[in-house]
Amino acid sequence: MGDVIQVQTGGKLYIAGEYAVLTPKQSAIIKNIPIYMTASIKPANQISIWSDMFDYRAGMAADVNYTLIQETIAVWAAFLGKDVADLRPFTLDITGKMERSGIKFGIGSSGSVTVLTLKALAAFYHVKLSRDTLFKLASYTLIKRGDNGSMGDLACIAYDDLILFTAFDRRRVRTWIESYDLKAILAKDWGYGIEIIKPALSCDFLVGWTKEAAISRDMINLVKSAVTDDFLMQTQKAVLRLKLALEAGVKCDVKAEIENVSGLLAALSPAIYSDKLKELKAASQGLDAAAKSSGSGGGDCGIALSFKEKDSQTLIERWQTNGIELLYQEKL
Ligand code: PMV
Ligand code: MG
Repeated sequence: MGDVIQVQTGGKLYIAGEYAVLTPKQSAIIKNIPIYMTASIKPANQISIWSDMFDYRAGMAADVNYTLIQETIAVWAAFLGKDVADLRPFTLDITGKMERSGIKFGIGSSGSVTVLTLKALAAFYHVKLSRDTLFKLASYTLIKRGDNGSMGDLACIAYDDLILFTAFDRRRVRTWIESYDLKAILAKDWGYGIEIIKPALSCDFLVGWTKEAAISRDMINLVKSAVTDDFLMQTQKAVLRLKLALEAGVKCDVKAEIENVSGLLAALSPAIYSDKLKELKAASQGLDAAAKSSGSGGGDCGIALSFKEKDSQTLIERWQTNGIELLYQEKL
């Protein structure tokens, strides 16, 4: 079994900038979540893929559950300048589904699977990929599929770090896909920004899981028409102030800007703060902490930053009382 290669990718959660970051040049702060998926890849006689999400094997013949992985493999073949049929065949096994009892956590599993598949293939074919090429290849794969997200999840997962992501013009990349080959597209400047944020703050970063699954694609379609220039401007200012406050370790500004972006989201659409997410946020009342929904909302997870050990405990207990589970906890 010496020739089995293993690679991992984590999850992500938005801290600020949701919905605004769907517009080019807008920024979001996105946190890596070290709940990992693992891929094992080894030589085989034919391409075979398996995921613990579905628990059966597939090849490259059309299969609804495996389309994302299959399309990622096809993009990889194009990246090597080959047909899929001419690739050295492999068995690819993916474990670590980001869900419990069939309910997803909502921490970016589809983005993570895409980046994971690319990382596994790169390792298998001994190709060294920069984080940016990894990000571009993953984005290319999803844009080609018609994904309607900002690709910020992919940036965070490819970097596996806390980042400030500034969005590129996905429509422009989509038109490139019609006219240029993959190599040429990768060589272009897409105009995005990915900057690692080093917080200088001592606090607990807490993730509360509502156990209600929300579908980002549907939420985006529901909410995006409500986005106004004013929302974009206000969010951008708040996101940049939050980044500075995190880096400078200015607690009151961090709390104020979390509240600020949370309020902007609440005003954007009533669909974002589901009852559970309202409870998740309300649990921070009276504590030295700030909480908000994360990502598209409507369910999935919310986040909190808490500045006192005792308050973290209280917050977690309040969440538990409301059926919100502490999914992940980290000292920033
Ligand atoms: O629900 P999530 O964690 O996939 O986050 C979606 C964030 C949006 O800004 C609403 C969409 C996006 O892809 O940026
Ligand atoms: Mg979500």
